[in-house]
Amino acid sequence: MSQTLRGILSCALIACAPLSAGAGPAPSTALAPSTAATPSTAAAPSTAPPSRGPPDTMEARVQGCVTCHGPAGRGTKDDYFPRIAGKPARYLFNQLQNFREGRRSYPPMNYLLAYLHDDYLKEMAQYFAQQQLPFAPSEAVKLSAAQLAAGQALVLHGDTTRQIPACSACHGPQLMGINPGIPGLIGLHSRYISAQLEA
Ligand code: HEC
Ligand code: HEC
Repeated sequence: MSQTLRGILSCALIACAPLSAGAGPAPSTALAPSTAATPSTAAAPSTAPPSRGPPDTMEARVQGCVTCHGPAGRGTKDDYFPRIAGKPARYLFNQLQNFREGRRSYPPMNYLLAYLHDDYLKEMAQYFAQQQLPFAPSEAVKLSAAQLAAGQALVLHGDTTRQIPACSACHGPQLMGINPGIPGLIGLHSRYISAQLEA
């Protein structure tokens, strides 16, 4: 998977702790203050005394999701992670259930959702569905005008000779999705769309 993802995962696994903390010979001591003889101060963040913490809002709870899905689910520059803001709640809920039950596979999401119950998945789905946010400018494409025109014809009209229905017949004339179950396609990265079509 992408380098960003590996970065995020490995960072999460090591809790972003400095790798050299407390282990092995100290690196260059040139910058060490004279009090450096005190024992290791590499306290694990999880042992911090419970503080009042962030407010218990849905926005705060989905912080783990927005690392990959962007603020409020609006998507990121990563060329794979999908935008989820504004998709129909029922569609999002179905997908969350699919990940939880392993019908759809993406290990970080499968793990995250493994122990969450339906009511909570519904609340998260509703939260993201309610986010009506502007779209990022579309990706630069490396296709010829003829290829783009062929793609547009397929999306809007389908291809009867190959028995391909128009995408817009289901995804809506503006490809914004249709309640309750059909997701919008606008704002997704091309690599993500290709992967879903092959899945
Ligand atoms: C490590 C990155 C990462 C994290 C963290 C993450 N996701 Fe995802 N999510 C993805 C990727 C990548 C996909 C697409 C997987 C695929 O089908 O290949 C996805 C897919 C989804 C989908 C389906 C989107 C669609 O259009 O079908 C939903 C809904 C979703 N995630 C919600 C969440 C929620 C809610 C959380 C937090 C509980 C979360 N994700 C956390 C990376 C992440
Ligand atoms: C007969 C109706 C129908 C047609 C026609 C259709 N789709 Fe879909 N599509 C759906 C439904 C329903 C889903 C959601 C499936 C699910 O819930 O898992 C979907 C999901 C998708 C997804 C995954 C979206 C996401 O957010 O992860 C992509 C990408 C997609 N369609 C692309 C296309 C393209 C491209 C075409 C035209 C070539 C097309 N679809 C034609 C009904 C349709």
